[in-house]
Amino acid sequence: MDIQTTLDLPSLAKRIAAGLLLALLATAPTHAEDESKRGFFNFFKGEDSSSIVPASPLQKYQQECASCHMAYSPGLLPAASWQNLMANLDKHFGTDASLAPADTSQIGSWLAANSGTYKRVSGTPPQDRISQSDWFLRKHRAGEVPANVWTRASVRSASNCIACHAGAEQGNFNEHQVRIPG
Ligand code: HEC
Ligand code: HEC
Repeated sequence: MDIQTTLDLPSLAKRIAAGLLLALLATAPTHAEDESKRGFFNFFKGEDSSSIVPASPLQKYQQECASCHMAYSPGLLPAASWQNLMANLDKHFGTDASLAPADTSQIGSWLAANSGTYKRVSGTPPQDRISQSDWFLRKHRAGEVPANVWTRASVRSASNCIACHAGAEQGNFNEHQVRIPG
């Protein structure tokens, strides 16, 4: 078969050009230097680095959701994940974290209002875990964090961000300030 006669070459060339442009757009935001300068979560929106932390904190969130683990920034999950979590607090990762209905609804609205709208936070991760998000698995793959680190007594779990990111509650995940405890 003569390939020249079966392919529409001008339109093929256009499609290749469009594909190249998409590939360029897709790889550009992961450029390491840009990320450390502008902040991992801010790249897509060009906001300042404090934007992963809500402008108006909710004290009740600190009280009710930071006793067993750190207060995760709402911006680390999409609204749909926070809704799932808040709707199933009685079966919360093997514990019962249920609250009075008024508190559930107040915290739920605040989480939804401050949830992540960044492109890399757009899909609901497995179990609605931040630590199961694609970006998380990519950033913490074995080449970056040796697998045996996660079970150390000083770390215990991937959910324990603050073990390695001292500024996690302030939304600081700067890769130059990470320290893996021994
Ligand atoms: C009674 C203890 C307890 C309370 C209270 C609690 N949690 Fe949790 N939460 C857990 C446990 C246990 C895990 C799983 C941690 C692990 O795998 O190491 C977890 C995990 C999570 C995760 C997933 C972390 C990850 O791996 O990415 C989120 C998000 C979360 N909790 C949100 C909340 C919210 C929101 C509240 C308040 C409404 C809350 N939690 C209150 C015990 C609690
Ligand atoms: C065992 C230590 C450890 C734990 C626990 C941990 N991280 Fe990390 N994290 C790292 C290391 C090391 C890097 C740097 C990887 C690299 O150099 O690209 C990193 C990178 C990141 C980055 C990218 C920073 C950048 O500028 O590129 C983000 C965002 C992040 N972590 C968020 C989290 C969140 C959220 C949690 C908790 C749900 C968490 N991490 C738990 C060790 C950890």
